[in-house]
Amino acid sequence: MIEIHDVSLTLGEQQVLRRVSFQVAEGATTVILGGSGSGKTTLLRLMLGLYKPTSGFIRIGGEDITEFSETDLTRIRQNMGMVFQGAALFDSLSVRENVGYRLWEHHLQPDEDIHRIVEDNLRFVGLEHVIDKMPAELSGGMRKRVGIARALASGAAILLYDEPTAGLDPVNTFAIGQLIARLKTKGVTQVVVTHDLDTAYRVADRIVMIVSGRILFEGTAQDLRNCRDQSVREFLDPASAVTA
Ligand SMILES: Nc1ncnc2c1ncn2[C@@H]1O[C@H](COP(=O)(O)OP(=O)(O)O)[C@@H](O)[C@H]1O
Ligand SMILES: [Mg+2]
Repeated sequence: MIEIHDVSLTLGEQQVLRRVSFQVAEGATTVILGGSGSGKTTLLRLMLGLYKPTSGFIRIGGEDITEFSETDLTRIRQNMGMVFQGAALFDSLSVRENVGYRLWEHHLQPDEDIHRIVEDNLRFVGLEHVIDKMPAELSGGMRKRVGIARALASGAAILLYDEPTAGLDPVNTFAIGQLIARLKTKGVTQVVVTHDLDTAYRVADRIVMIVSGRILFEGTAQDLRNCRDQSVREFLDPASAVTA
């Protein structure tokens, strides 16, 4: 369970988030929608404890992380996997080394177990055949899927995605949506930042729409389809707003 409670954040001169509250239930998938600069990435960074709210608090698994030390934050982050904007793989490491990176870094398991975990997670994203390739040899869509395999391999129960379908063609966008949908059935808690409405409707248990750092809408996909609020309609269908 992730709980964002009345969170405001000022960075430099700018108030980036204003009194934002929502919850992500355990095993649920919440999609965060919003235009560029609305505060979506900042929200993910807050969940990782990379920013501290100016006011309000954030609870992860029942623990208020707002005043946590770096040591406690490291413990919390071990349970969270991040699929970054851009795939953010290590270019000089093979796919295998990328996916197993966190596990090898901490040496918590025998080598052969790590190899098996890496292989299992690459199979899950349909990429076991590229295990010995370098990131530069892969397409953008493949790199994204390797990023998801890496987040899964670390054993994270919470996955955060920052625009996982940005820059992908429709086929790869669909494939990423499919993966997120399959992870729901495995009980992973997911927060997916995206501009892509199709993906949002496909995977979301709940949708949070954020505009200029404020929540404009929060509810199910069905609630969003039925929502008659003018600003929400304009976001969903700018063309209709122009001609209205
Ligand atoms: N470290 C920072 N210092 C000052 N302003 C920032 C910082 N990080 C983000 N911002 C501002 O906060 C707003 C939201 O940024 P961001 O969360 O990256 O938006 P999004 O991911 O929705 O595109 C933007 O106007 C951005 O310029
Ligand atoms: Mg962003």
